[in-house]
Amino acid sequence: MSVKSFRISPVYFLLLVALFISCSKSGSDTPADPCAGVTITVSATTTNTTGPGTTTGSIAATGSGSTGLTYSLNNGAYQQSGTFSNLSAGSYTITAKTAAGCTGTGTFTVLNGDPCIGKTITVSASGNNSDKCTPSGKITVDAAGSTGFTYRLGSSGTYQADNSFLNVAPGDYTVYAKDGDGCEKTTTVTVAALPNGPLFAGVVSLINSKCTTCHVAGHSSGLDFTIECNIVAHKDQINTAAVINGNMPKGGPALTANEKKVITDWIGGGGKSSN
Ligand code: HEC
Repeated sequence: MSVKSFRISPVYFLLLVALFISCSKSGSDTPADPCAGVTITVSATTTNTTGPGTTTGSIAATGSGSTGLTYSLNNGAYQQSGTFSNLSAGSYTITAKTAAGCTGTGTFTVLNGDPCIGKTITVSASGNNSDKCTPSGKITVDAAGSTGFTYRLGSSGTYQADNSFLNVAPGDYTVYAKDGDGCEKTTTVTVAALPNGPLFAGVVSLINSKCTTCHVAGHSSGLDFTIECNIVAHKDQINTAAVINGNMPKGGPALTANEKKVITDWIGGGGKSSN
């Protein structure tokens, strides 16, 4: 018996290989896209910060369109909760993801809130009287309800840490207090003018009887003694002319010793309208 070797021709071999490949191809199937028809929508409630420079904002996001969602802030790590806290003001993107990896995003803005909301700042001020012609009043401000207060007098004043203002002229003032966050509150206070003191009252009546015949508004000397504070401002000149030199009243007669004493007693007593 002859033994025949079984050989397959190369042509048949290639045909078999080709057949195998085509069969296995036709039998394979592309897996279905798990995200087809899945639409994840992200909505959120944002909470503004309590003011510039703070990180007190938050976003509470909720995804819909599927279940078992996890959430990521600005492509950060995914977490179970859709709430992200300790945020500064800005724009944030939140991604919600299903277990199968289907995602949806939403962009939300955290604003800076007004740091003054919710604060109850109270301001009170008291004013001492001032001399009428020499600003000498004192205003003291008290603010409560916050910290880091600074104070100013009037809208064009400069804020200062000291809560008292010295050498204030008589008048009505608006006092401002501002806390460390810039929350401002005002109140009004009046600095009253002190009445004329007895020594000055004597000088005013002397000058009205001896000098204001000439020394009125527009007088050649430029000295209008009908304005009482001009008497205070020029007391040294008055003393020189009417007491020391005796050349006033112009044309005489000179003041008597008692009249001169009215002037020198007032100057010696302080020389202010309240003396
Ligand atoms: C009759 C007008 C007249 C009377 C009253 C008068 N003065 Fe005069 N006074 C003048 C004139 C004018 C001048 C301008 C300088 C000059 O002409 O001597 C003057 C100037 C002054 C000056 C500037 C300094 C100087 O000596 O020139 C003072 C201060 C003064 N008078 C104070 C007084 C006092 C105080 C009285 C009242 C006690 C008084 N005068 C009464 C007319 C008058």
